Amino acid sequence: MSKNVKSVVFSGVQPSGNLHLGNYLGAIKNFVDLQKKMKCIYCIADLHAITISQDPKELKKNILDTTAGFIACGLDFKKSIIFNQSSVSGHAELAWIFNCVSRIGWMNRMTQFKEKAGANKENANVGLYVYPNLMAADILLYKATHVPVGDDQKQHLELTRDIAQKFNNDFNAENFFPLPEPLIQEKLSRVMSLRDGKKKMSKSEESDYSRIDLKDDAETIKKKIKKAKTDSSPIPEKIEDLKNRPEAQNLLNIYSFVTNSTVEKTLKEMKGKDFSKFKDHLSDALVSVICPIGKKIKELESDTANLKKILKEGSEKASTIAKNNLKEIKEILGFIQS
Ligand code: ADP
Ligand code: TRP
Repeated sequence: MSKNVKSVVFSGVQPSGNLHLGNYLGAIKNFVDLQKKMKCIYCIADLHAITISQDPKELKKNILDTTAGFIACGLDFKKSIIFNQSSVSGHAELAWIFNCVSRIGWMNRMTQFKEKAGANKENANVGLYVYPNLMAADILLYKATHVPVGDDQKQHLELTRDIAQKFNNDFNAENFFPLPEPLIQEKLSRVMSLRDGKKKMSKSEESDYSRIDLKDDAETIKKKIKKAKTDSSPIPEKIEDLKNRPEAQNLLNIYSFVTNSTVEKTLKEMKGKDFSKFKDHLSDALVSVICPIGKKIKELESDTANLKKILKEGSEKASTIAKNNLKEIKEILGFIQS
């Protein structure tokens, strides 16, 4: 990245259900830390959410709940820009421009589309297919240089860099768009489902027992951890011995991360114990981190007027930046602007 490029952080979360432990540890915790170092812009990606069919009433509620979740996790709306994507029209405009820059071959490589479209690709909506171009537009509309995300979004970030590079080359606009870098938690880039250690924890998984929601109370957290899948062997001494034990590995990863420790240290501490004992420690650690956030979310959710005001202020700030950048983009493309 050239020296005179100003650092801007951008990221988004879809308002498609309750925020969960994977969202928090894999992404939002990083959003919070970055506020201390850089200018940050965080969006509730509601345009992305409608690539899956949504009940309008539910969507409205989820947008406000995600906003409450952001703030409860520690995002500061005075310092960072927090807004909902659909209220800044530049996202959809730039996405169209990028539909004309991006290549069908690039889209066809996207693994998330393949997973989400499932067997019946012909019947998938076109928005789901070009979703990565909208994500590139989100980031580049603000000329963002750094994007904190979970590991599952890495491929979309690579595509964003390809689009930025192609735009800069095709229109002779050297260094116009920065090539944004993903910021992925090294220690915990992917929190796995509590029911299947090979699948990521996700809002879209059917079973509630597969994830810890940030709004879960202590009782529920304990119950979910108790029911979390493990195997019958005790906790091993060495990391290598976790290789073919994805569920065990996942629970140990989560515990080590939330206690600010390392898996090596946790194994030293817990070796030989069976998982039922370890799960008590894990529940306690999670309750102490998650319950205060859940309590705050519920408080914030009860004042929807306040949440709407926060989004409105954020959208105004985001719109100002977006408008200026879009003006430059349109100039580069040769559009006449009145
Ligand atoms: P979900 O898959 O639950 O719908 P989103 O797609 O809204 O989650 O993801 C929002 C952010 O949280 C993204 O940066 C994503 O990479 C991150 N994230 C989601 N699930 C996980 C997980 N299980 N582990 C780590 N990060 C995750
Ligand atoms: N696609 C991301 C996800 O499903 C959410 C998202 C939308 C995003 N726009 C973004 C993430 C821009 C980072 C930057 O998790």
